[in-house]
Amino acid sequence: MNWRDFWNRENPIYVNGRHRALHYDRIARGIADLVEAPGWSVLDHGAGEAISSDLVARRCARLYLFDAAPNIQDRQRLRFAANQTIVVLTSEALDALPDGSLDMVVANSLLQYLSRAECEALLDFWRGKLKPDGKLVLADVLPPGTNALNDVRALLRFAWRGGFFFAACAGLVATWFSDYRKLRCNLGLTSYAESDLRALLCDRGFEATRAPQNLGHNQRRMMIVARLTG
Ligand SMILES: C[S@@+](CC[C@H](N)C(=O)[O-])C[C@H]1O[C@@H](n2cnc3c(N)ncnc32)[C@H](O)[C@@H]1O
Repeated sequence: MNWRDFWNRENPIYVNGRHRALHYDRIARGIADLVEAPGWSVLDHGAGEAISSDLVARRCARLYLFDAAPNIQDRQRLRFAANQTIVVLTSEALDALPDGSLDMVVANSLLQYLSRAECEALLDFWRGKLKPDGKLVLADVLPPGTNALNDVRALLRFAWRGGFFFAACAGLVATWFSDYRKLRCNLGLTSYAESDLRALLCDRGFEATRAPQNLGHNQRRMMIVARLTG
């Protein structure tokens, strides 16, 4: 099994409905705040179920959702069938987006599941699809040295504030016995030093800065906001 298979199946990452709802609500509000004009075309790449994407869609003209897992694509399509602003993409439709057509691409909690070569290929892909002054947001990026214990602490803090602390404790036990822990031990997660990621972006014509806050609840992880400089 690889990470792609993992995300295509039911998994124990969200410990209950409240966790899932609070997570996606926070991410969607964060993405919505990054939209600078109502006419923007935005791509959420590796979107997951993105159940609160209607909050983003209210702030832009077109919101494309893409996730590599076919089961997730199906759920996105069902949920947003009636939303005229949201378009759920297949891989072919993603490739077919016109070059230079997107104002912003957001990838939250994606890079850690890709090899460095896959990440570099995606940076090239996004660069091609973005407008000459387009914005690329890479969030929930793991810096080197991140370990599972940091993630556990961050989840428990989020759960305490969100009122699902005891469910989170039970969820952590379930995760311990799940494929997630095995995959994390065997395949690992890809991490990037801030300087490393900035250099990759700079090589492709982006000017990048680290945002003061990550989109997700785990503030040990980074959000990098990069803009093409033409
Ligand atoms: C941790 S989830 C993040 C979901 C969402 N962005 C969020 O913040 O909740 C990672 C997602 O990336 C998707 N994914 C993994 N590899 C991908 C790839 N190469 N292209 C697009 N999506 C990918 C997985 O299917 C999964 O839904």
